[in-house]
Amino acid sequence: MIAETKKRILRTLALGVVALAVGAGTAWYQTKFKQARVTQQGMSSSERPLPVAGLKIGGPFSLTDHTGKAVSEKDYAGQYQLIYFGFTYCPAICPTELQKISRVVKALEKNEPALAEQVQPLFITVDPKRDTVEVMKDYVSLFHPKLVGLTGTRPQIDFVTKAYRIFARKVEDPDQHDYTMDHSSYIYLMGKDNTLLGIYRMDDDADYIYDDLIKRTSVG
Ligand code: NI
Repeated sequence: MIAETKKRILRTLALGVVALAVGAGTAWYQTKFKQARVTQQGMSSSERPLPVAGLKIGGPFSLTDHTGKAVSEKDYAGQYQLIYFGFTYCPAICPTELQKISRVVKALEKNEPALAEQVQPLFITVDPKRDTVEVMKDYVSLFHPKLVGLTGTRPQIDFVTKAYRIFARKVEDPDQHDYTMDHSSYIYLMGKDNTLLGIYRMDDDADYIYDDLIKRTSVG
């Protein structure tokens, strides 16, 4: 079962790389692979960096980490947090964004080790039905040893996605036995007091996020 999960994840990772190599963006692999659409609802500004002043994003939550431990936002206070919402069955976008976060953390570990120690990457599922603690544990291990996967009950996930203004919707796929998820794709940079410092979009690459993170964390 676990081996099968790994195989599936590696396959989807490979698919993500192929899709990236083609470079045609979401439209191409949406139609090709009928994958979930990734929405950027409500944040259509093309400004870079996206202005975050006054945006009420974040808040308290109760979730379960990939080791089965109950956690809340208090467990990560005192750390800068890179937070991404998605689901482990996501064919391309989620693996790509999580690889991006991993690259940022690896670069920090190499060049800014003191800062790297203060950065906690978090992956929160929007699909708690399939993304159990076990599934999350397998999945996060494919990216970075520091990456923490968070799941929870349906109400807990609804609560945290609302607090972070994440859109997520189940979509039945007539060609498959399973469903997929449409969901927003943002990487949030949260401060040590759990307030929003930055938002990164899919066209912000790892180099950009790395530079911007250093800029935004150097003041506090
Ligand atoms: Ni996804």
